[in-house]
Amino acid sequence: MLFLGLLLALSQVPCCWAINSRTLEVDLVLPRNDTYPPSPIFPIIFAVQNPSLAEKFQPMITLQVHQVGGNLSISETYKLWEGYNDTSNTRFLTWGNSKFDFEGEFKLTWDLSVDRCYMDNKTHEVNFGRFDEFESLFFTTKNGTSPPDFVAATDDDTCDKALAQAINYADLSKVPASESTYGPSCLAAPTTLPKTTSPCNVKINSSAAASMSAAMTSTACARDRAGVTCPTPTSKNAASKSNSNTGDVWILTTVSLLAYSLA
Ligand SMILES: *[C@@H]1O[C@H](CO)[C@@H](O)[C@H](O)[C@H]1NC(C)=O
Ligand SMILES: *[C@@H]1O[C@H](CO)[C@@H](O)[C@H](O)[C@H]1NC(C)=O
Ligand SMILES: *[C@@H]1O[C@H](CO)[C@@H](O)[C@H](O)[C@H]1NC(C)=O
Ligand SMILES: *[C@@H]1O[C@H](CO)[C@@H](O)[C@H](O)[C@H]1NC(C)=O
Ligand SMILES: *[C@@H]1O[C@H](CO)[C@@H](O)[C@H](O)[C@H]1NC(C)=O
Ligand SMILES: *[C@@H]1O[C@H](CO)[C@@H](O)[C@H](O)[C@H]1NC(C)=O
Repeated sequence: MLFLGLLLALSQVPCCWAINSRTLEVDLVLPRNDTYPPSPIFPIIFAVQNPSLAEKFQPMITLQVHQVGGNLSISETYKLWEGYNDTSNTRFLTWGNSKFDFEGEFKLTWDLSVDRCYMDNKTHEVNFGRFDEFESLFFTTKNGTSPPDFVAATDDDTCDKALAQAINYADLSKVPASESTYGPSCLAAPTTLPKTTSPCNVKINSSAAASMSAAMTSTACARDRAGVTCPTPTSKNAASKSNSNTGDVWILTTVSLLAYSLA
């Protein structure tokens, strides 16, 4: 979309301590460049830091996985601005995928895109568009390997290997009043893509890991997915009771929201 007008001025970036809370970051917790056992509930986990920023400029995760030398291919998007009003610092999006229940090698590509604006120096127009930066890794599924460890994936010695992308919400430009349909400001296109991410801020403890596993299993069981061992009715009741514990609500609600929209 093209709009006439001048890009007026860059707003001030508040110093230092405020910057982190104005950065929305998405970290790919799992999978990594690693080998995992085939599973009918293969976990794909993203962490979203400062998810409340997502209400503006429509940040979206795009995820694609292609089998190397094979025909399996999945492609999904997740709109971070939809759903719950989120006051938590970190939100986990978990997808227990059914497709990786065989041995293979896979290329995972993902991106965090957002609506941005930039000034065309020649025409003096403000352009609006979505900006992407895709990142990839390869993972392998092989019988007899160790299952992914959600807690270990965020350990201090491995967390920095997570692929991460961030949007700095302080990079605002004023939009001329003539274009006020889009609000008083827009997110300026960076001249260089942001490289400062902090995936090590995300920690998954054992109770969060158990909640995520339980939520993925319960989604798979609700869909009668083949090859999944489902809890007995008694432990199902126990599991749904634990859903209402406030500490775990975001993990579980977000987990099932994503699982239902993607599975
Ligand atoms: C992925 O792991 C393999 C084997 O450990 C290694 O050779 C390769 O360089 C790694 N790739 C990346 C992008 O880290
Ligand atoms: C993918 O390949 C496998 C064997 O390599 C075949 O059985 C399957 O039908 C193929 N699936 C599609 C969607 O083409
Ligand atoms: C989130 O909060 C805003 C303002 O507080 C409200 O307008 C909106 O309806 C809420 N959205 C949801 C999904 O609860
Ligand atoms: C547009 O102009 C600004 C300021 O004059 C300059 O910093 C920037 O590099 C220019 N951008 C392009 C793409 O030429
Ligand atoms: C891996 O395990 C599955 C299920 O046990 C089996 O069907 C398959 O043949 C095994 N693959 C190899 C290469 O051994
Ligand atoms: C585990 O993590 C969850 C979610 O991040 C948090 O709410 C909970 O307080 C943590 N539990 C402990 C014992 O640290």
